[in-house]
Amino acid sequence: MTILNGKTAIVTGAGSGMGKAIAQTFAHEGANVTFADLHVQSAITAASATGVNHVQAIQADVTNDSDVANLVNQTVEVYHGLDIVINCAGVPQSFTSIEELTVEQWDVIMNVNTKSIFLTSKYAVPIMKQQKSGSIVTIASIAGIRARPGLNAYCASKGAAIMLTKALALELAPYQIRVNAINPGPADTPMIGKFLVGNEDQKEEGMKKIFQDSVPLGKLIQPEDIAQGALYLASDLAKMVTGEVLNIDGGRGI
Ligand SMILES: NC(=O)c1ccc[n+]([C@@H]2O[C@H](COP(=O)([O-])OP(=O)(O)OC[C@H]3O[C@@H](n4cnc5c(N)ncnc54)[C@H](O)[C@@H]3O)[C@@H](O)[C@H]2O)c1
Repeated sequence: MTILNGKTAIVTGAGSGMGKAIAQTFAHEGANVTFADLHVQSAITAASATGVNHVQAIQADVTNDSDVANLVNQTVEVYHGLDIVINCAGVPQSFTSIEELTVEQWDVIMNVNTKSIFLTSKYAVPIMKQQKSGSIVTIASIAGIRARPGLNAYCASKGAAIMLTKALALELAPYQIRVNAINPGPADTPMIGKFLVGNEDQKEEGMKKIFQDSVPLGKLIQPEDIAQGALYLASDLAKMVTGEVLNIDGGRGI
């Protein structure tokens, strides 16, 4: 299938989990894809695994202004345009009471999960405005609308990501730039164990008890489930969809 034939996409956090699944799916659907990650080796490995030649990997810290500018510039230079930005890079929070949370932890979570969306938009939107088209999809979280105790900063960062999605959808609609978000529920990626404190066994046990049991459909969400939703929202299949937040969460948000 080639739903994204002729399109160019940037996917952040493409070295692992959902970002990797999204970037690989987009490449197989015909898009030119820049796999961006803080850990460039993981992005290179994920891009190479596609077996196609219309992909590249770029090292970028999504909290760093010049890294993000470079990410957009290099993508436009190589592929002569930019149609899709997927904001997927993110960091978790170990369950922490508000009085124990450090200012540094707060800043890292807000910067990676929220400021990054401002930065990718700041540099991608001028290109999309010139083209009079574009699609931005942010991987937020069901935690952005349904809180859990101890995930204070994480929930706040994802709530902000959702509201920024809606604000940008209105602001950019006159330019035919669509802006949407996906709220994954608890997902089967390397991130999930990091939400919990304790040793590895406890994390595994805790993951099953707290996360899997909280999903009405009874299973963790797979990265490919998120990739299918991102494919729909990024593509012309969703050409009249903007400001939307799609829960892919096995019913967790009900
Ligand atoms: N796993 C879950 O249960 C879950 C649930 C809801 C939402 N999410 C969100 O989905 C997104 C993807 O998470 P995942 O589960 O695939 O996690 P993951 O840990 O597998 O992947 C996250 C990727 O982001 C990259 N990254 C982190 N900080 C970065 C930075 N400053 N600059 C560039 N890249 C950076 C990491 O290197 C990693 O490759 C995140 O935004 C996460 O908050 C995850």
